[in-house]
Amino acid sequence: MSPFSLAGKTALVTGANTGIGQAIALAMGRAGANVVCAGRQSCAETVGQIAGARELILDLADPMAARDVFADDPIDILVNNAGIIRRNDAVDFTESDWDDVLDVNLKAVFFTCQAFGRAILDRGGTGSIVNIASLLSLQGGIRVPSYTASKHGVAGITKLLANEWAAKGINVNAIAPGYIATNNTADLIRDEARNKAILERIPAGRWGEPDDIGETAVFLASPAAKYIHGAILNVDGGWLAR
Ligand SMILES: NC(=O)c1ccc[n+]([C@@H]2O[C@H](COP(=O)([O-])OP(=O)(O)OC[C@H]3O[C@@H](n4cnc5c(N)ncnc54)[C@H](OP(=O)(O)O)[C@@H]3O)[C@@H](O)[C@H]2O)c1
Repeated sequence: MSPFSLAGKTALVTGANTGIGQAIALAMGRAGANVVCAGRQSCAETVGQIAGARELILDLADPMAARDVFADDPIDILVNNAGIIRRNDAVDFTESDWDDVLDVNLKAVFFTCQAFGRAILDRGGTGSIVNIASLLSLQGGIRVPSYTASKHGVAGITKLLANEWAAKGINVNAIAPGYIATNNTADLIRDEARNKAILERIPAGRWGEPDDIGETAVFLASPAAKYIHGAILNVDGGWLAR
């Protein structure tokens, strides 16, 4: 079997109704995985495009929402993709814009990893986690303080969990997407000046497509990546190389 195949594996993707999460779910399905599409709203559109897929309503505004998801449902691959962003000047940033983003983007990611890791370790199995980080796991950004803090945190806990679980059969890695055209970046694309400045800095000369991330997630979840632990893999059209 190809080392890039996910046949026989079950993958759960959070935020699978749209954008990067939808592309990851579709790519995992193409690679042969059974896919569980998790979202705070229905993922029917995604489920309808993947043979044998099912959906799970999971609102990660409650960071502990996934605590019981993995105990009786053997999942091999967890993709923590769901995320939100709030934009405002640092001097005007509100506590709720801080807390809401940290809850979904960081606290939920850690406790979902914990629930997944516990289940794998309890059954003596193996598994893979792919967290969706960001360029703002590595750079400061502007007007997105809670997002930057959360994504730096995602990079940190990815490495921490890799250190704890690499020898126990669980691969933990992250993808740092560059500028990908989704709902999350629609405001930037609409802003002509920002859009031009962004494009000028991307060596590939284009915005990323959600599918660029989908195929990378398949790779990190596959046997081909078995010796990759704690990596933050940037998929950014060359942005960080500049
Ligand atoms: N687009 C980029 O350029 C870019 C770059 C770097 C990193 N990322 C990261 O990539 C991930 C996906 O973002 P995207 O660009 O695909 O944006 P998106 O289209 O806005 O998708 C975000 C996903 O997260 C889900 N979500 C938000 N809050 C949730 C909650 N409380 N519970 C469960 N699901 C929730 C959304 O569900 P709803 O549709 O119901 O809101 C949606 O499915 C995020 O972690 C984002 O930070 C994106």
